[in-house]
Amino acid sequence: MKLLNWKPWFHHKHRHLLVKLGVGFLLMGIAFRLLFIRSTDVSQELETPFPQETHLPQKAVASEPPAFVEAQEHEEQMQQTELPATSEVEEQEEQIPRTGNSTSKEWLTQLRRKCDLFTGDWVPNPSGPIYTNKSCSFIEAHQNCMRNGRPDAGYLYWMWNPRDCELPRFDPVRFLEMMRNKAWALIGDSISRNHVQSLLCMLSTVERPVEVYHDKEYKSRRWHFHRYNLTISVIWSPFLVRAAIFEDYNGVSTSEVKLHLDKLDKKWTDLYPNLDYMIISTGKWFLKSSIYYENNEVVGCHNCGKKNLEELGFNFAYRKALSFVMNFIATSGHKGSILFRTSTPDHFENGEWSDGGTCKRTSPAKEGEFQLKEIHRILRNIELEEFKNITDKASANGVNLKLLDVNPLSLLRPDGHPGPYREYNPFAGDKNAKVQNDCLHWCLPGPIDSWNDVIMEMLVNG
Ligand SMILES: *[C@@H]1O[C@H](CO)[C@@H](O)[C@H](O)[C@H]1NC(C)=O
Ligand SMILES: *[C@@H]1O[C@H](CO)[C@@H](O)[C@H](O)[C@H]1NC(C)=O
Ligand SMILES: *[C@@H]1O[C@H](CO)[C@@H](O)[C@H](O)[C@H]1NC(C)=O
Ligand SMILES: *[C@@H]1O[C@H](CO)[C@@H](O)[C@H](O)[C@H]1NC(C)=O
Repeated sequence: MKLLNWKPWFHHKHRHLLVKLGVGFLLMGIAFRLLFIRSTDVSQELETPFPQETHLPQKAVASEPPAFVEAQEHEEQMQQTELPATSEVEEQEEQIPRTGNSTSKEWLTQLRRKCDLFTGDWVPNPSGPIYTNKSCSFIEAHQNCMRNGRPDAGYLYWMWNPRDCELPRFDPVRFLEMMRNKAWALIGDSISRNHVQSLLCMLSTVERPVEVYHDKEYKSRRWHFHRYNLTISVIWSPFLVRAAIFEDYNGVSTSEVKLHLDKLDKKWTDLYPNLDYMIISTGKWFLKSSIYYENNEVVGCHNCGKKNLEELGFNFAYRKALSFVMNFIATSGHKGSILFRTSTPDHFENGEWSDGGTCKRTSPAKEGEFQLKEIHRILRNIELEEFKNITDKASANGVNLKLLDVNPLSLLRPDGHPGPYREYNPFAGDKNAKVQNDCLHWCLPGPIDSWNDVIMEMLVNG
C-alpha cells in the first residue's frame, strides 16, 4: 500500500473555504427543495430481523409453491414507513466538527507500530461521534436512535482502544485521499448495510456522496464521491451463496430458504473483479430454515419440519458455503484487498427477537460479562477455521485477505443497539407500549463507527 502523499491534503485544506462557499450555495438550494420534497436519501426500508429460531407457520408451507414475496412486500413497507418530517439534514452539514487533529508526524509514528487490534477495551471518548442524526442523512430509520428518541447518550462516548497500541481515530480526509479512484464494496447482510451507513456518515463530513445505483429493493446500492472518484457499494448477499428467500419484512417466512451451497451469489461475484477493497461477511441468515442444494440436487435441510429430508444442521451449510467463498477469494485471480468480517453477536436479554428480548444497558460490558451464545460460538468457530484454512493459499496467490474480527469488540457493546428505539418515539403514546426491540443492529452514530478506526489502521498499516 502506498503511503499518503500529504500535499493534496494541505491543498485541500486551503481549498476548503472556497468549497464551503460553493457548498453553502448548493445547500441553500437543496434546503429549499427539501421543504417540498421529502428526502429519499434516508433509507426507509425495514430490517429483516434474524429470528433465533425460524419457526415456519405450518399452513404457509403447505402444498402451493409460495410466491416470491420479498420485492412486493418491500414496496408496501416503503410506503408504510413514512418518516416523521425530517427538518432537513443537509443544512446542518456546515456544523459538523472536523476530525483529523492528528498531525502527520503522529501518524507516521503510529504507522510503524503493529499490534493486535482486536484485543482491547472500550474507553471514554469525550469528543463523541463525528456525525449526528442531523449531519448525516444516510442513517436508516430503524437505526437512527437519536432521532427515534433514545433518551440516553452515554453510549456515544466510547472508543475502541487496543491494549498494546494506540488506535488513531478514523480520519475521513485521509481515507478519501487514500482511496482516490478506488472501488469499495461491503458485501453481506443488514449488518453490512448498517456498516456502510456508518462509513458514509463519517466520510460525508468531508464530501457528500451521490447515489449512482440502487436495485429495486434498495438493498444493493452504490455511491460516488466525485471529488475523490471513490465508489462505495453495499451489496446485499446475506448468504454469499445463491439463495431463494421467501420472507416478508418482518422476518416471517412462507417457505424455507433454498440454498445452493456450491453456487456463489452472482450479485457479488459479478462485481468482484472490479473491486479494489471489499469487506465480506455473512452469518445469521444461515440459522433460518433452509433446504440445501448441491449440484442442483437437494442434499438435506435445516429446520425444515415435517419434510422428509435429512437435517444437516446450519453448521454444515455454513462451513460448506464459507469454504467455497474463501476458496473463490483465494483463487479467482483477482488481487483486491479483502477484509473478511466476522459476524456480530446480538445482545437480547430475557428473550430473543421474536419473544420480547430486550437490551436496556447504557454502557459497555466488562470483558467476560457477556458470553457468546452457543449458536454464535458455532458460527464464529467456523468463520475462524475457514479463514485460517485459506490464508496460505490466499497469500501464495497474492490476494490480500485479512480478518476483520469485530466480534469480540462488538460483544462488549450491549448498549449499542436500538432496542425499542428501532421505531420513532416508541413510547410517545403509551409509556408501557409493547414494541419490537432490536438488539442486533447498531445505533448510528454508535459502536460500529469504531470499526472504521480499525479498518483505517489495517489499511494504513497492513
Ligand atoms: C489537537 O491536538 C492538540 C495536541 O494533541 C490539542 O492541544 C488540541 O486541543 C487538539 N485540537 C482539537 C481541535 O481537538
Ligand atoms: C436528531 O435527534 C434529536 C434528538 O436527539 C431530535 O430532536 C432531532 O429532531 C433529530 N433531528 C433529525 C434531523 O432527525
Ligand atoms: C475513477 O475510478 C475508476 C476506478 O474505480 C477508474 O476506472 C476511472 O478511470 C476513474 N476516473 C477518473 C476520471 O480518474
Ligand atoms: C481447506 O481449504 C481447502 C482448499 O484450499 C479445501 O479443499 C478444504 O476443504 C478446506 N477445509 C475445510 C475444513 O474447509
